[in-house]
Amino acid sequence: MEFSGKPWPLKKPMRTQTKMRRVLALTTLLAAMATGPALAAGDAAAGEKVFKKCKACHSLEEGKNKVGPSLAGVMGGQAGGVEGYKYSKAMANSEVTWDDASMDAFMTKPKKFLPGTKMSFPGLKKEADRADLIAYLKQETQ
Ligand code: HEC
Repeated sequence: MEFSGKPWPLKKPMRTQTKMRRVLALTTLLAAMATGPALAAGDAAAGEKVFKKCKACHSLEEGKNKVGPSLAGVMGGQAGGVEGYKYSKAMANSEVTWDDASMDAFMTKPKKFLPGTKMSFPGLKKEADRADLIAYLKQETQ
């Protein structure tokens, strides 16, 4: 390899770019403050294993209810949204939308998040398990 002797192209003035970055950083920070600490992104493959704990009562097939309602399309949907499934009053009237934050809270301790729910599940103690599970639910059910 021969050195051509050409100078490296000088970088363009950084000014505007830096300003943009600062605005972006500020926006991100404000968004984070508005929605609380961001939840770590989970691993869907690991989440599939966590879902084994749910399978006795839930399927991911539309229309296939077990003891619990089908979880097809659950992420982004309204709680109590499966037609024909008999929810507890607490769940039916909850007005919860299932997003990362509400699902994480529900999975931590179902009966604490939604007193009166008839879901008999103690919860997932590990934050990583919940994040993985949510990633899996999103992948499979949206
Ligand atoms: C022992 C059975 C059982 C297990 C295990 C169980 N669930 Fe449930 N689940 C239910 C029942 C019953 C309901 C309905 C609750 C109600 O109406 O209050 C429910 C409701 C739900 C809902 C609300 C659905 C909707 O349509 O709004 C979600 C989400 C959910 N379960 C997720 C899970 C996940 C994820 C797991 C595994 C980590 C799990 N459940 C484990 C029985 C179970």
